[in-house]
Amino acid sequence: MKVFLRSFGCQMNKLDTNLVANSFLQAGFEFTEEIGEADAVLINTCSVRNHAEERVLSLLGHLKHIKKTRPQIVVAVFGCMAQRLKEDLLSHEAVNIVCGPLQIPELVSLVSKAIEKNTKLTAVSNDIRHKSLPEDSDRLDDFEYSYDSAEDNLPAQAYVRVMRGCDKFCSYCVVPYVRGPEASREPAKIIAQIKKLADSGIKQVTLLGQTVNSYRYDNFTFADLLYEVSKINSIEWIKFVTCYPKNFDERIFKAMVDLPTVCRYLHIPAQSGSDKILKAMNRGYTCSQYLEIIDKAREIVPDIAVAGDFIVGFPGETDEDFQKTIELVEKAQYKNCYIFKYSPRPGTRADDKLADDVPMEVKKQRNIELLAVQEKISAELNKSFIGKTVKVLVEGASKKAHLDKADKENVSQLIGRTAGDYIVVFDGSENLAGQFVNVNITKASALTLFGQIN
Ligand code: 5AD
Ligand code: SF4
Repeated sequence: MKVFLRSFGCQMNKLDTNLVANSFLQAGFEFTEEIGEADAVLINTCSVRNHAEERVLSLLGHLKHIKKTRPQIVVAVFGCMAQRLKEDLLSHEAVNIVCGPLQIPELVSLVSKAIEKNTKLTAVSNDIRHKSLPEDSDRLDDFEYSYDSAEDNLPAQAYVRVMRGCDKFCSYCVVPYVRGPEASREPAKIIAQIKKLADSGIKQVTLLGQTVNSYRYDNFTFADLLYEVSKINSIEWIKFVTCYPKNFDERIFKAMVDLPTVCRYLHIPAQSGSDKILKAMNRGYTCSQYLEIIDKAREIVPDIAVAGDFIVGFPGETDEDFQKTIELVEKAQYKNCYIFKYSPRPGTRADDKLADDVPMEVKKQRNIELLAVQEKISAELNKSFIGKTVKVLVEGASKKAHLDKADKENVSQLIGRTAGDYIVVFDGSENLAGQFVNVNITKASALTLFGQIN
């Protein structure tokens, strides 16, 4: 049986996709890149913005067409959109299976059943905000533990979930409604999993949580977890995403200084620089409180690399509010920022209570403007690397042709990242994928550092 697997969305989804892929491989399925020859099509979906859902719907439209000639193909939609739309998705002609994020351990058996009986099946939590029963969390943990080291991951790298769900209820965000309540995994299970990954050759782990710095298991905090993970031999780099800028435990910064394996990289979304908008977003901090955290981080870890997220065009965002966001971006000196146009999500408080009153043209304009401000900052920061040597974990061959490709026709270009998550492109042999190399930086753009292995 052949399976075609497509994934949309964040790192959490990539991890789920890997887990699902491995569970299908172990059950004897093969993978295909050709949708036309698949017996089953699995789609891991994202609901964070409307655009992500539109892409899934367009793929489903394509599948509806394919099913006209091959009606026996089983199409399974899983993840956030499956949870959000539940049975409604089953009424789509192309869809056979709707499976929520907490039900992914059942996906193999659902698909097998649907192939056998050519039926439609749903497995989603009816009340996702209801705290999981211990046996359900155990089942997810076992699934995670059994299928962790993914074949198609970047070489020597793995994601490890430390928390599920979110309780912050930012007013624009669908995550608490599709991923359920915040729950931290037991430290012993996380450690056992990372030890297993280390034994299989993993050198970098990225600890994942929607608000990873709020990790807490009884009295055991995220900083405690960093100290424990750093004791595991052969894990050379520990990264973590994403941080929430409230109640930030400074011991996390101290861990970055104390522990050479904890990467000095902080992804800490601000979302807006206007206190009025932050309040409407229910973020629970002011712009100056946010900046205090960044200042504290830099005081304790002077060379820390900071990245942020922003939403432009949130309901009620005036030019003046947007100017405050620009000012924050200028002050924060991010290494890079992810910028999104506000997208109303059904069921969220912002969508229920606030009109989406910033016109799309204005959202687009603000997006472009903010990106330009950040690009200038990124370009300056990146320039400061010229002449320096950085340690890079090699990901593999660079997919895109890069700036300085023209003069070197037959050499393969590699791409990798530094501990601070800077992207580095350089010439080298593809068998360096998964290895650490030192690269002398000779050139820099706003997005990329270029250099030579030394
Ligand atoms: N519209 C636009 N951007 C959003 N994000 C989350 N929800 C929305 C939304 N409704 C952005 C936030 C978050 C990132 C993952 O996606 O910036 O940090
Ligand atoms: Fe969404 Fe806010 Fe939770 Fe992040 S912290 S997942 S933005 S609700």
